[in-house]
Amino acid sequence: MNEPAPPRYDAPLTRRDALLAGAGLVAAGLTASRAAAQRAPIPFGSAAQIETFREDPLYRDALKRYCDVIVPMNDLKWEALRHDRSRFDFSGADELVAFAQGNGQALRGHALLWGEALPPWAKAMTSRAEAERELIRHIEVVVDRYKGRIATWDVVNEVIKFEPTPGEPMRDTIWQRLLGPEHVEIAFRTAARVDPKARLVLNDFNFEEPNAGVVARRQIALDLVRRLKDKGIPIHGIGMQAHLYAENPIDTHGLQLFVEALGKLEVDVEVTELDVIDWKLPADAATRDRAAASLVSTYLNAVTTARPPRAIVTWGLSDRYSWIHETFPRRDTAKARPLPLDADYKPKLMMNVLNRYRRSAG
Ligand code: G3I
Repeated sequence: MNEPAPPRYDAPLTRRDALLAGAGLVAAGLTASRAAAQRAPIPFGSAAQIETFREDPLYRDALKRYCDVIVPMNDLKWEALRHDRSRFDFSGADELVAFAQGNGQALRGHALLWGEALPPWAKAMTSRAEAERELIRHIEVVVDRYKGRIATWDVVNEVIKFEPTPGEPMRDTIWQRLLGPEHVEIAFRTAARVDPKARLVLNDFNFEEPNAGVVARRQIALDLVRRLKDKGIPIHGIGMQAHLYAENPIDTHGLQLFVEALGKLEVDVEVTELDVIDWKLPADAATRDRAAASLVSTYLNAVTTARPPRAIVTWGLSDRYSWIHETFPRRDTAKARPLPLDADYKPKLMMNVLNRYRRSAG
């Protein structure tokens, strides 16, 4: 019998799809907590900012208490490691790696290649040969240093163009300009050569919103995975940053088909920078906390129903510290509430949602 053609993950959502998906989600939503309880626990973690880590003992305590996984937020970026070309400054990263190891926590490395957070000398590179030499040397030194301690690397971060256009899939960075799309292959091939046991991840944002730009972003991510696989270059995961805008819906159908398509390529997903940008929501804290928890629940239920992520990591733990305060300031000057703990380190509804998925606290 002719099997119906499998739905392409990038097909625009039909009204029937939406109704079916919606009905499915209502049912799924009603049993989300029961389903979550039956599924294997998913490690939970957070990014850690070294300045706060050094200054605020409550921050350190919360990282130790709530996290199975720690990600140095900035200290493994070129900007922190490579003030000048001739030497590496591992002080911040070493401190956070030692903290996590001392607590028996896993570590994610972020990020071996990014077009931002570069020192001036790197931004000033001018030739293909120079860029390739510096990229390979950087990855060799950094990955070798943390071999056996950092188990997962964001090998490349945000290489997909924000709003891709046909013929322009890749973000305009110094790496793309000097090396072309091959910069992705060079980074993954080098990381795999230096630490064959590490999980190697392509990390990017906005795979979850219901619009044509996101459909294109998912397509490009899949194409990059296929290109690496076709060349025998290891890639193990797609890191979905999940900086969720509270006013935007989640394209649960498209997201699930994307995660399933990756699964068919034997590539997992991990949620790597989860937080909720609530600047368009009413000021009332309880209202915002409920909306944020519901959005996170919808997102995680969609992903996990398709294929459980290898980890769920938030971009910080407490509302007291978040990049969102400066980047998305609210007009009413109320403080953003993007994270699982409030500014006094008290768990919010979002933490209840995360606990439904994470490893048991014990
Ligand atoms: O360490 C210096 C300090 O010495 C100096 O005094 C200070 C003032 O200039 O700057 C400090 O560096 C800052 C760094 O954070 C550490 O606080 C950089 O200027 C600042 O640009 C950097 O911002 C980080 C940003 O990435 C750029 O690297 C944010 O904290 C961090 O949350 C944000 O995280 C990114 C992810 O890496 C990728 N996905 C998006 C996410 C949010 O933008």
